[in-house]
Amino acid sequence: MTIDRVRIFDTTLRDGEQSAGINLNRAEKIQIARQLAAMGVDVIEAGFPAASQGDFDAVSAIAHEARGPIIAGLARANEGDIKRAADAVKGAERGRIHTFIATSPIHMEYKLKMAPDEVVRRTSQAVAYASSLVKDVEFSAEDASRSEVQFLIEVFSAAIAAGATTINVPDTVGYATPGEFGDFLSRIMEGTENSHKAIWSVHVHNDLGLAVANSIEAVRRGARQVECTINGIGERAGNASLEEIVMALKVRKDVFSVYTGIDTTRLYDASRLVSRLTGVQVPPNKAIVGDNAFAHEAGIHQHGIMCKRETYEIMHPKDVGAPESKLVMGKHSGHHAFVKEIKAMGYALSEEEFKRAFTLFKELCDKKEMVTKSDMEALIVDEILSV
Ligand code: KIV
Ligand code: ZN
Repeated sequence: MTIDRVRIFDTTLRDGEQSAGINLNRAEKIQIARQLAAMGVDVIEAGFPAASQGDFDAVSAIAHEARGPIIAGLARANEGDIKRAADAVKGAERGRIHTFIATSPIHMEYKLKMAPDEVVRRTSQAVAYASSLVKDVEFSAEDASRSEVQFLIEVFSAAIAAGATTINVPDTVGYATPGEFGDFLSRIMEGTENSHKAIWSVHVHNDLGLAVANSIEAVRRGARQVECTINGIGERAGNASLEEIVMALKVRKDVFSVYTGIDTTRLYDASRLVSRLTGVQVPPNKAIVGDNAFAHEAGIHQHGIMCKRETYEIMHPKDVGAPESKLVMGKHSGHHAFVKEIKAMGYALSEEEFKRAFTLFKELCDKKEMVTKSDMEALIVDEILSV
C-alpha cells in the first residue's frame, strides 16, 4: 500500500485574519510565518494582496523572509488582483497565485450577477493569466459545496486545461456533512477531465462544527491538500483547525494511510503564539492544544493514568509540544491521585492521616469551585500535622 503525503496549506494569515476583531501587523505576520515554516507547513497563504497596501506589503515581506514553504497570495478571478498577487509573491523561493470565483447558483445570481457560462469563461481566463505569471496556480470554486456537480466538473476541467496545478473545493459556509462531502468530492474528482494533473484540495469552514470531520473525510476520498488555520480561527465560526487535522491523520494513520510534513512537537507553541498575537483565547477544552487536553480530574481516570497512561490518553503531550499531563485535584479525584499529589508536595503521612486528609479535602471541594495546591498545603499543615 502506498502512503501518500497530504500537503498542509495554512491560511491563518489570510482566512484566519478575516476573523472579526483580528488585525495583525506586518511584524506579527512575519513572526507567525516563521513559526509555520519551522513547523513544516507546505503552503503559507500570506494574505490577499489586492485587499490593501498593508496586505500586499505583508505578503511581499513574508515571500522574501520565509524559506521552505510555498508562499501564496489570494486573488479574485480578475487581472488586477492576479497581477497584484504575482507581484507580492515575487520574492518567494516558490510563489503561488490562488485565484477563485464563486460557482453556486446563489452566489452567481446575487453576488457576481453572472451567468454560469461567464463564470466558466472567467475561470479559464484567470487561470491562464495567472499561469503566465507563475508556475504554481491554485483555483478555488467558492461555495463549491452548494454548487451543482456537473457545473463544477465543467469549471474544474476548464481550470486544469488553463494550467491550474491545484484544485480546491471549499465548503465556504460550513454547510456540508462528512459522508455527503466525501461523495461529492469523489464524484467531482471522477468527472473532471485530466483530474490526475492537479492536486485536489479542500477548504472547510466550521459553521456546524464539522470542518475537521469534513476535511479528513475528504482526505480519505483522495484530497491531498487541506486548508486550515492554527486554532481554527477564521470567518464566523472559523476554518478547520490545523492541529486537529494533523493529529487526527497521525494518530489514526491506520484509517487514513497518509502522512504530513508537520513537526507536531511545535503545534502547542504555534497555537500559543497565534493566540497571543490575535488576542483570541484557546478554549480550555480545545482538542490537542487546550489547557485541559491532557488534564484528568475524575478519580477513575486519574487511577487509570497512574497505572498506564494509554488508558485515558490517545497521544502523548510531548507529541504536540504541550506541558506534561495534569492530574487536577477536585471533587471527582480519587484517593490514589490525592496521595500521589500530597507525596509529591513533600509530605509523608501515615495511612490514617491520609484517610482523614482525603475526607477533609472532599469537604473542601464541595465548598470551593477550585482547590489549589496552596489550599491542599494549608489543609495538611493546619488540619493534620498541627493536631
Ligand atoms: O471559504 C472560501 O471559499 C475561501 C476561498 C477564497 C478559498 O476562503
Ligand atoms: Zn474560507
